[in-house]
Amino acid sequence: MRKTHVDIGGLTIRNPVMTASGTFGYGEEYAPYIDLRRLGAVIVKGLSLKPQPGNYPPRIIETPAGMLNAIGLENVGVERFITEKLPPLRDIDIPVIANIFGETVEDYMRVAEILSGAAGVSGLEINISCPNIKRGGIDFGTDPDLAYEVTSAVRKATHLPVIAKLTPNVTDVTVIARSVVDAGADAVSLINTLKGLSVDIATRRPHLRNITGGLSGPAVKPVALRMVWEVARSVSVPVIGLGGIMTAADALEFLIVGATAVQVGTASFIDPAATVNIVDGIDRYLEDHGIDDISDLIGSFHTN
Ligand SMILES: Cc1cc2nc3c(=O)[nH]c(=O)nc-3n(C[C@H](O)[C@H](O)[C@H](O)COP(=O)(O)O)c2cc1C
Repeated sequence: MRKTHVDIGGLTIRNPVMTASGTFGYGEEYAPYIDLRRLGAVIVKGLSLKPQPGNYPPRIIETPAGMLNAIGLENVGVERFITEKLPPLRDIDIPVIANIFGETVEDYMRVAEILSGAAGVSGLEINISCPNIKRGGIDFGTDPDLAYEVTSAVRKATHLPVIAKLTPNVTDVTVIARSVVDAGADAVSLINTLKGLSVDIATRRPHLRNITGGLSGPAVKPVALRMVWEVARSVSVPVIGLGGIMTAADALEFLIVGATAVQVGTASFIDPAATVNIVDGIDRYLEDHGIDDISDLIGSFHTN
């Protein structure tokens, strides 16, 4: 029997493939298309203390080998998530990881506390790519001290495994990674989207109402892979790799450079079965290469 399960900071998942937050709704939306139990875990849309309507459209524009989005973190709020979205997921035997965000450290703590009391949540992923309103709008995830502060507050507010999700919009992502691990993160995930812009030359206006947006999809994969490789060498906690994973081959690259698990985002918009196809493709690779334990593959990268 091949061993494909991996441990993410105390949470054991049956295979290393998860959904990326914001690209898989609250999970249930995909139930008509795939058997959710085939996935390692479902990471749901980012949740805040109060419901948020998000930005005005246009909020998405396709770009070469990717897309820009400025959804603005629209979500139903943590309370409605627990009463309406979580019960159907609880009936499925799948770990649910809640992605959380806020505008202040207190917001993050409160959301973490509320979710920790809800049956059926197996872990928290902290989206630190949000501006802190008390600190003049600097993104939590671009400042090592703020990243430390928010991670350590969430760590204290919950007994659940805490994954800190890192932004690529920094000069040295390993500095932020070490800071969140020092603050008690059980794992890190990266990358969130890269900040970008697209112009409509007919109107000379931005394509997105928000002007800028976050770039995702195959265009970001080499950047994501390089950052995951750097972070995996810099911290001792599990690293979850994402950014542009469309196929099993893409996912395998992340595992080889040191990711313990992967997340699949934009690919699910193109093919709702992308995640399960990636699970199957990883299995085939392990079989073809005579690898009985996926941990023998993780971090097996060599450069000489
Ligand atoms: C439409 C959309 C919404 C997203 N919403 C969130 C979110 O709520 N929280 C979060 O941490 N990341 C969010 N992300 C970022 C993704 O989870 C992921 O980090 C990024 O898209 C890179 O992976 P990909 O290239 O596989 O899509 C969103 C991405 C997209 C495209």
